[in-house]
Amino acid sequence: MEFRTARLRLRSLRSTDRSAWIAGMEASAELHGAWVPLVTLDASARFAAQLAEHESGASWKGIALADDGRIAAWVNLNGIQRGVSQSANAGWSVSAAFAGQGMMVEAVGALLDVAFAPEGVALHRVAAGIMPENARSLRVAAGCGFREEGFAPELVNIAGQWRDHRLFAKLAREHRPVG
Ligand SMILES: CC(C)(COP(=O)(O)OP(=O)(O)OC[C@H]1O[C@@H](n2cnc3c(N)ncnc32)[C@H](O)[C@@H]1OP(=O)(O)O)[C@@H](O)C(=O)NCCC(=O)NCCS
Repeated sequence: MEFRTARLRLRSLRSTDRSAWIAGMEASAELHGAWVPLVTLDASARFAAQLAEHESGASWKGIALADDGRIAAWVNLNGIQRGVSQSANAGWSVSAAFAGQGMMVEAVGALLDVAFAPEGVALHRVAAGIMPENARSLRVAAGCGFREEGFAPELVNIAGQWRDHRLFAKLAREHRPVG
């Protein structure tokens, strides 16, 4: 299954993405460093862990591909809850080569298409936590129509420190598909 936007196509992670995934992550490590949980595994082990998590159904791990086939962004639905919740936490990061081109709003819009589509992950709610200092990510959330719900002190350990997060969410009925 693929979801398209004006400049990207979004699909789930595959074992054949390994070398492109690792190269893109390594090239983007400096950009991601201050904003994502401390990386303790090497890139190869991280890729294997992400793929296993996706294949187990615990999360939906996606990549957004540019027209030339390069990975432009990584977009995830983490910690999928079924039963009475039907929810997940969104995570996103851009590949350094594609940063600052408005790709993330497209990629996260498509991630929400996947999240809410009955033939996709069929969720009811997608949440996102963002550090107050992460101005670019806050703009992505605003651009994708996330609603602010609250504030969580010391929610996640980012690069070795417990960091406060602003909490956002979007419900299926609040989303208009972009793809
Ligand atoms: C957050 C991140 C995904 C944004 O990627 P990006 O390529 O800059 O995104 P876009 O080009 O789509 O721009 C997003 C918005 O940020 C704005 N922006 C760009 N640079 C900015 C800056 N320095 N300060 C404030 N806003 C900025 C853009 O204008 C755009 O807003 P708009 O849609 O209202 O015009 C990217 O910086 C990243 O991967 N950061 C590291 C990982 C991360 O923080 N992930 C999210 C954790 S919650």
